[in-house]
Amino acid sequence: MVKPYKNLEGSKKEQVRTMFNRIAPRYDLLNHLLSFGIDNIWRKNVVKQLRELKAPLILDVATGTGDLAIQIAKIDPIAVYALDLSEEMLAIAREKIEKRRLHTTIQLKHGDSEELPFGNNFFDAATVAFGVRNFENLQKGLSEIHRVLRQDGRLVVLEFSRPKKFPLKQLYHFYITRILPWWGGIISHDKDAYSYLPESALQFPDGKDFTKELQKAGFESQKILPQTFGVATIYVAIKK
Ligand SMILES: C[S@@+](CC[C@H](N)C(=O)[O-])C[C@H]1O[C@@H](n2cnc3c(N)ncnc32)[C@H](O)[C@@H]1O
Repeated sequence: MVKPYKNLEGSKKEQVRTMFNRIAPRYDLLNHLLSFGIDNIWRKNVVKQLRELKAPLILDVATGTGDLAIQIAKIDPIAVYALDLSEEMLAIAREKIEKRRLHTTIQLKHGDSEELPFGNNFFDAATVAFGVRNFENLQKGLSEIHRVLRQDGRLVVLEFSRPKKFPLKQLYHFYITRILPWWGGIISHDKDAYSYLPESALQFPDGKDFTKELQKAGFESQKILPQTFGVATIYVAIKK
């Protein structure tokens, strides 16, 4: 199992929480810099997969600093519940949400995706952007999302994947293993956090392998949508 800090004790979950608490103040800046701003386009593409549903109740798991929840609020659901493990990431999300006067639509919740604090069949749709890779137990997290979604409810996941073709495969590998940890380490002041990112991204199941995980948790996979030459992928699945 890939954990953020090789020299520290503690479960992956504890370490992931520590890491995001540490990097929270610089997370947004780093995200936009290291992805050249493309991360916002990917989040907008996630929202496109929800728009026609007109889902009243949406859950954003691993919401972090809330960028996806804020995008989702624009399609006028009754409520977006935005949950995260890291208090410091949520504190930044809270500031952004209050500044945009979205606090009546977006309900922030501190919690664990592997033990969701919601009843069965509660949500019409759920999203996870760059969260599933950080779960300690992927199946437990996906099964919990399945439990809280209603029958035929839609799950949209955005996660890093790997370009498969020459020369992008090689360019991406060079960027993610050499450039990104270097820049990320300098700006975040947490070298380990930006070594963990490529390590976890390179070993995480992508494409068909990830849809197998979705199926194991009880979902029917509907779409695999590679983004920007396959650097990230959007997965759309339905609770069956
Ligand atoms: C890379 S950030 C993504 C944040 C946001 N979704 C985005 O698109 O920028 C991953 C987030 O997952 C959260 N996370 C990791 N494991 C979690 C868990 N078991 N339960 C809830 N949140 C978790 C972290 O605290 C962190 O805020």
